[in-house]
Amino acid sequence: MTNKKITIKDGQTDNEIELPVLDSILGPNVVDIRALEKNLGYLSHDPGFIATSSCESKITYIDGNEGKLWYRGYPIEELAEKSNFTETAYLLLNDKLPNKSDLNDFFKSISSNYNVDEQIKDIINIFGKGSHPMAIMSACLSLLSAKYHNEIDIQNKDYRYRSTIKLIASVPVISAWILNSIMQRDFQNTSENLSIAENFINMAFPDLSDDQKELSSRAMDVIFLLHADHEQNASTSTVRLSGSSETSPYAAIAAGISTLWGPTHGGANEAVINMLEEIKNSDKDVEFYIEQAKDKNNPFRLMGFGHRIYKNYDPRAKIIQKIAHEYLAKLSKDNPNKPLFDIAMKLEKYALEDEYFVSRKLYPNVDFYSGIVLKAIGIPQSMYTVIFALARTVGWVAHWNEMIEDKNFRIGRPRQLYTGNKKTKYTDISER
Ligand code: CMC
Repeated sequence: MTNKKITIKDGQTDNEIELPVLDSILGPNVVDIRALEKNLGYLSHDPGFIATSSCESKITYIDGNEGKLWYRGYPIEELAEKSNFTETAYLLLNDKLPNKSDLNDFFKSISSNYNVDEQIKDIINIFGKGSHPMAIMSACLSLLSAKYHNEIDIQNKDYRYRSTIKLIASVPVISAWILNSIMQRDFQNTSENLSIAENFINMAFPDLSDDQKELSSRAMDVIFLLHADHEQNASTSTVRLSGSSETSPYAAIAAGISTLWGPTHGGANEAVINMLEEIKNSDKDVEFYIEQAKDKNNPFRLMGFGHRIYKNYDPRAKIIQKIAHEYLAKLSKDNPNKPLFDIAMKLEKYALEDEYFVSRKLYPNVDFYSGIVLKAIGIPQSMYTVIFALARTVGWVAHWNEMIEDKNFRIGRPRQLYTGNKKTKYTDISER
């Protein structure tokens, strides 16, 4: 990296400081402000982290203006077309595509870890009917963090690799068991010869025909691949911050799961289907909902639209839109999900022509179409965010590993702009 200098003057000659500018390979360069606090006593202030780089990373590159997403330099479109989730997981973790034998070994290490602790089933059973699966998933990760607590040794590469593989193998199996429980089915067995997506579909829908399993597994595999990473989003940043305290990786992933759950992050895929169902069942047309989304006095937002980073079409949304088209067409001509897809297409068309959405650069994001495909596969709506978490576990562990190997690794500790009371005298309760 070459350093340039940026000078900040605050009106007093003594308070002038030169700060280095670090060159990125792609994307905005970064002002290293660490000397600001040390030399001048100032902090930087950036609520929502609009202009803050929290770490150095080599994993994923996003150009939000151009709508580009690359994993380790490979465009997402090319990976979705030519690669698969297992190979992409290897790529995200290792910074290179595997050769045949690397891939084989990697897959074997994952599938030999499909044998998740049976106690997980007890945890799932403890939760009452109607419990949200993200809460169950979080509890299951807590169980794993308890089970492996005595092994924690985050500076040890072998420990990190073992935990990484265990997490990538376990979360999909746990997801399938949660799905079994929701669908009131017996817990299904895993099959070591099946890929993560095939094993998931096989466990989730054991009664499907082989052809149908293959079709659904392929769609699922691409969905997993598209969700595998997305640089420093809220849940990944949570995993990094949580992991920075040197806690168990299972506990750090549980923290990421809790963050992903929210409707403005991973929970949006569920919210999109609620919105599309509401539109389908209402006597109002699509334009009415577009107007509601624009009304600042109305809390309604067009779910699956807008993104902090993408000010262009989310490239993942384009790929999922195509999968939705193809998948629905292959299922049957009068698939019950077709009307939802048609409403989604109509909403997109109106929004992309509307000045409100155009001027704010609000485009469909990954969640806009993913729920439609998941619904068509037969996944219950409350499980959509779990599917997201299953796939994102790969990105989370890739970032966790990268953070610990970083020469600047230390506990994350944001600061604040304090605007509360000055020193205040305590008054006894009888005098208040
Ligand atoms: N519908 C209507 N207006 C919107 C929407 C929307 N979906 N999204 C943003 N806006 C407006 C917002 O009201 C604001 O308008 P103004 O400038 O007049 O105040 C402007 O666009 C900028 O929005 P913002 O809330 O400042 O943007 P943000 O970067 O803080 O939020 C977001 C990004 C994704 C949380 C937001 O766009 C949103 O809530 N979208 C709907 C939920 C959603 O689809 N989330 C999934 C994100 S992608 C998957 C993932 O990464 O997890």
